[in-house]
Amino acid sequence: MSVSVYVTSILPEPGIEIVKDFCPEAEVYPEDRIHPRDLLLEKIQGRDGVLTLLTDAVDKEFMDTVGPQLKIISNYAVGYNNIDVEEATERKILVGNTPGVLTDATSDMAWALLFSVARRCAESDAFTRAGKFHGWRPSMFLGGDITERTLGIIGAGRIGTAMAMKSMWFKMKVLYYDLNPNKELEDKLGAKQVDLETLLKESDFVSVHTVLDDSTRHMIGAQELSIMKKSAYLINTSRGPVIDEVALVEALKSRTIAGAGLDVYEDEPELKPGLAECENAVLAPHTASATIWTRSRMAEMAANNLVAGLKGERPPNLVNPEALG
Ligand code: DGY
Repeated sequence: MSVSVYVTSILPEPGIEIVKDFCPEAEVYPEDRIHPRDLLLEKIQGRDGVLTLLTDAVDKEFMDTVGPQLKIISNYAVGYNNIDVEEATERKILVGNTPGVLTDATSDMAWALLFSVARRCAESDAFTRAGKFHGWRPSMFLGGDITERTLGIIGAGRIGTAMAMKSMWFKMKVLYYDLNPNKELEDKLGAKQVDLETLLKESDFVSVHTVLDDSTRHMIGAQELSIMKKSAYLINTSRGPVIDEVALVEALKSRTIAGAGLDVYEDEPELKPGLAECENAVLAPHTASATIWTRSRMAEMAANNLVAGLKGERPPNLVNPEALG
């Protein structure tokens, strides 16, 4: 059986190896940068399967351009807000993702951002490198306490749960906001499920782990920021548009909250004006899952999903099982 495959980015091994074992002619975009849209629309025409990144918008235009033979879109990410899944399902196109393997890396990074912003690591690193450290001072780089403070988790799924579980060693009180109760967090940590307002008012650290959809877009805006403690920190390793970034810049500038640790941005890769100048923000370039092991496992999973879909089998991590029927 001859199949035509396009992979929109170079991936860590064993991803490409798995794809090429099944389809030696698979074409991989060779440049280490975001795939230009025009070229993408040219390259995907007539493919049976496409392996995409979260930076590729897989919309109606994309699917129309590929053509009706498209069987599977395999996303190299756990999040799939870049894909119009409803449209894919209607067309019986399978959509795959990579859950589970990035839970620890992402929650570790949320902790790294939490520590960095609360203990002012980025600011003090720049200060020290600039030769400004002229001796110990009692009030130099005072930050926020972490141990025994309150951690508020927005979205207590896999990553939110891992983030919360890791707070155990810091004896934190844990609150969470989620549509579903999380028995593991309640049994193991004594965590309390609360409404969003309570979580924002009572937490010293608010960590966002929700998916991005119409119900979560701008879930944290000016009003929500205004009810957080002045001494609180906001961490986001989920998707940028969950937070109204313009409102966040304002809150950081006016010290409505103490700081933010961000891995994701509303108009990624652009930052809203003023964010880069906020000293009370620690900014990472969407690297929460960027560990060697994790990215390699994600590549393996995305490749296996792609190959399964091309073989007419159920991909091991299928987002839209309804498309099978
Ligand atoms: C994802 O997988 O959704 C992350 O944002 C990137 O690893």
